[in-house]
Amino acid sequence: MAKLTHLYAHEILDSRSTPTLEAVVILDDGSSGVASVPSGSSTSEHEAKELRDLDPNRYLGQGVLKAISNINSEIATKLVGQPIDSVASVDKFLIQLDATPNKSRLGANAILSVSMAVTKALAASAKLPLYKYVASISGLTDQLFVPQPVFNMINGGKHGAGNLDFQEFFVIPNNAHAFSASLETGSVIYHTIKKILARRGAIHSVGDEGGFAPNLFTNLDALEVLSESISETNHKVGVDVELGLDVAANSFYKDGRYIIKDRSSPMESSEFIDYLRDLNGQYHLRILEDGLYEEDWKGWATLTAELGQTTSIVGDDLLATNPALVKTAMEQKACNAALIKPNQIGTISETIEVVKLSRQAGWKIMVSHRSGETNDSFIADFAVGVGADYVKFGAPARGERVAKYNRLLGIETELKQ
Ligand code: PGA
Ligand code: ZN
Repeated sequence: MAKLTHLYAHEILDSRSTPTLEAVVILDDGSSGVASVPSGSSTSEHEAKELRDLDPNRYLGQGVLKAISNINSEIATKLVGQPIDSVASVDKFLIQLDATPNKSRLGANAILSVSMAVTKALAASAKLPLYKYVASISGLTDQLFVPQPVFNMINGGKHGAGNLDFQEFFVIPNNAHAFSASLETGSVIYHTIKKILARRGAIHSVGDEGGFAPNLFTNLDALEVLSESISETNHKVGVDVELGLDVAANSFYKDGRYIIKDRSSPMESSEFIDYLRDLNGQYHLRILEDGLYEEDWKGWATLTAELGQTTSIVGDDLLATNPALVKTAMEQKACNAALIKPNQIGTISETIEVVKLSRQAGWKIMVSHRSGETNDSFIADFAVGVGADYVKFGAPARGERVAKYNRLLGIETELKQ
């Protein structure tokens, strides 16, 4: 069994120019792993906690030197020289060392970077590509495949220009295509959206996830632009290319009501569910993520009962990749699909457990990036290795997003050999 000889971390910038960590693990057989962690902006209350320095004299308080020092001193002191038999045992050690329910002492960012780097180093030590190693530790024995991509083409909410209430407007090429064909479709539609927005005089810029952040005013305008773009590329909307939304309803839920610009007055949960049902009737959404506030459990159950037959009702902020919340959602039939973000829970083995639990419930699995990303393509391998149905890595543009999609192209080619 290989021993860990080096563990250290340093600060790098994420795609929003905010510091994050990159960790390095080296084993005595020469294998190594380098991994960096992302960061969200529209976060759930229930996520594991990133440790930030809060020193106003560095990076506006967003530095991560304390988390790095936790790796370089406390964690490294205990792990260097130790035999490393599995990711699960390292994760268990890190969880016990942290000793808080939400990883706030050492920092979920510190813990996850070590967990990811150990996973990569052990894959290298086993002489396996990362996706095959993840498949082996997640017990996946089925034929591996590349998941269906969900492209976030228009960015609103906290990721956009401040005018659209909904956070993400998806274009989803139908899974009849190979991944490479879906990526081409996504790319051509991306260029077409740009053209159509320019024609309407609505181009503004791109948002945090590489999608356009246009000068459109209503959520319906954005869905119309997507439909028009799909039709202009000779695809049939709702047939060979489908639409979806990450409503991220937390961000416009205030004092028990949903407030969006499309409606002049705030809506009760039942009224907002009626609104979503009408929207679904019009646009036949394949995916509806975080349609309601993360504590509106009754509303979630109604939404799933009403739309769940035809639409993936995805819990992101609702579930926070947390096994206890997944169990509650299973009992309450609150959703039928899980968004999976490793940094919401903070270790790779716990993330794998959440995938397994979600699959037992018969849910769809969508592996996701965060709005603040690095060029690490770990989650592309991870998605293939756990047999995810969908991947959500942003628009098919911007380096930190295409790093993941391009890695999937590489895996697709390798799986054909
Ligand atoms: P976040 O957004 O990374 O800013 O949390 C992503 C999402 O809500 O899916
Ligand atoms: Zn989301």
